[in-house]
Amino acid sequence: MAPETNLSESSPSPAVEAPFDPRELGEIEAEARRGLEAAAGLAALEEAEREALGRRSRFSSLYRALGALDAAARKDAGRALNELRRRIEAAADERRVVLEAAEREARLERDRLDLTEVLPGPAPGHLHLVTQVREELEDVFVGMGYEIAEGPEVETDWYSFQALNIPPDHPARSSFDTFFLELGEPGAENYLLRPHTSPVQIHLLERGRLPIYAAVPGRAYRRDTPDATHLPVFHQVEGLVVDRGITFGDLAGTIDTFVHAIFGEEVSTRLRPAYFPFTEPSAEFEITCRICHGAGCRTCSMTGWIELGGCGMVHPAVFEATGVDPEEWSGFAFGFGIDRLAMMRHGISDLRSFVENDVRFLRQF
Ligand code: PHE
Repeated sequence: MAPETNLSESSPSPAVEAPFDPRELGEIEAEARRGLEAAAGLAALEEAEREALGRRSRFSSLYRALGALDAAARKDAGRALNELRRRIEAAADERRVVLEAAEREARLERDRLDLTEVLPGPAPGHLHLVTQVREELEDVFVGMGYEIAEGPEVETDWYSFQALNIPPDHPARSSFDTFFLELGEPGAENYLLRPHTSPVQIHLLERGRLPIYAAVPGRAYRRDTPDATHLPVFHQVEGLVVDRGITFGDLAGTIDTFVHAIFGEEVSTRLRPAYFPFTEPSAEFEITCRICHGAGCRTCSMTGWIELGGCGMVHPAVFEATGVDPEEWSGFAFGFGIDRLAMMRHGISDLRSFVENDVRFLRQF
């Protein structure tokens, strides 16, 4: 028997007055939301969205059926369907954000490079001696209540010289054999690699937070040919203390304290008059020679003493350049080479060993 066909069904159905049953819209929405929620990836989400709103969806057949409604009902039903579509699309967008984040996360996790190498036994290598000594010095100064500060290695003339009371053409400039940089326009301000850490004094003073108790470790640069006691890149620690009523006695006591902390109690310190444009009075501080213990040898030129660094009371011109009132505040500064200090403490005869990367040397410390 041939299947029954009813041709009249394909002819336009009569206009219907009732809009859609709201329960049916509710079902469509709930089902769509379930589908979107269940989607575990972006591709699945697209599929779920197509199932909810695509050509073969219940939603679309309702949409197509709008044509059968009379004008007023069509308007209401059309609006209801459009709102439904918007809600489903918004839910899909929300889900998409979540899934995209998860996929990005997964991709990062997948792409992460594992740069650790598993080696048996204790970790190979250790900090360079200069770094070890720098950290030890930092600990000593922190123990004395100092902050550890840092400053830029590329500096201007003002911070390196002028604010430190070294005007252009001052003869002291020649003792800081400086690397100049040409950055930017010819004739523009000169930049340079700081030839000492003293410019950080200026940065600290300009900051305007007083009192100051600061130790500043860092690299310094001078145009020196490498030899047993010189490197063009070396390390210094700058000290700056500014408070009310600071005296030269405080400076001498401070130097004594950190020298003993680093070298031990049996080492003595002494100050000898010297000249630095940014301190007045100025001194060099020396310790008893570590090689001959003060008896006199080649290393200390038979004096029994070895120079460690420079120091002095902050010059009023430095206070003036940075807007600090010298009537109210006084202070001292010092600076010394970390590499030289390490050299003396460990009886190393040639500074160049620090940068030659010979593991037989480095391994000893
Ligand atoms: N900046 C001086 C140098 O490098 C050392 C110094 C620092 C002297 C602070 C006095 C005060 O030689």
